[in-house]
Amino acid sequence: MITSDTLLKIIENMGNTIKENKDYLTELDSKIGDSDHGINMDKGFSAVLEKLPSLKGEDCGTILKTVAMVLISKVGGASGPLYGTAFLKAATAVQDKMEINEEDVISIFDEAIKGVKMRGKAEKGDKTMLDALIPAYEAFKESIEKGQDMVKASYNAQKAAHEGVEYTKEIVARKGRASYLGERSIGHQDPGATSSYLLLKTIWETLDEI
Ligand SMILES: Nc1ncnc2c1ncn2[C@@H]1O[C@H](COP(=O)(O)OP(=O)(O)OP(=O)(O)O)[C@@H](O)[C@H]1O
Ligand SMILES: [Mg+2]
Repeated sequence: MITSDTLLKIIENMGNTIKENKDYLTELDSKIGDSDHGINMDKGFSAVLEKLPSLKGEDCGTILKTVAMVLISKVGGASGPLYGTAFLKAATAVQDKMEINEEDVISIFDEAIKGVKMRGKAEKGDKTMLDALIPAYEAFKESIEKGQDMVKASYNAQKAAHEGVEYTKEIVARKGRASYLGERSIGHQDPGATSSYLLLKTIWETLDEI
């Protein structure tokens, strides 16, 4: 079970992870984008960090929805509305819940991915955050179906996301600014897939710690 307190801890750790990786993500975006992915993500998650103390005691749906609204309102780039939509859709899966179980996490993943697809009209293989999120979702679900616990499932999820990030080096970007580079985008890893991997890794690390 993930309590609303644990969810708040995960989100706090996500904010810190993004801060630590701000320059790295921006550096990746300088290769195939406009050098702002780390800046965008850090702007959004710093605002999320400021908001967290006021969310203590709230249910998981309210927490995720608030994170979504902050990301949507604070981040100008493509990634703000995309991650914002992911959190907003995820919130609908756990409305009013003070604790979430394995099945809820599967629904969160499922809704988040649907949200990103709906908002960005991208699919797996387009060299976006979906190339980390979709394999992670599949790995998590498979792990739970095998009877493994959430720590193991979230470990497998972040591992699959990491493999997804590696795969983005081999493919042509078909969405966002990176798509303007066409074949020249090959050889570079996608910044958004990388931030998704880092967020998923943070979920595993937090669950592993508690
Ligand atoms: N249509 C989309 N669907 C899903 N993810 C996308 C889409 N467009 C861009 N992305 C993700 O957003 C990341 C770039 O985010 P960033 O914060 O740099 O915003 P941006 O500079 O406005 O984006 P972009 O230059 O890609 O339009 C990409 O690496 C990619 O993973
Ligand atoms: Mg950018």
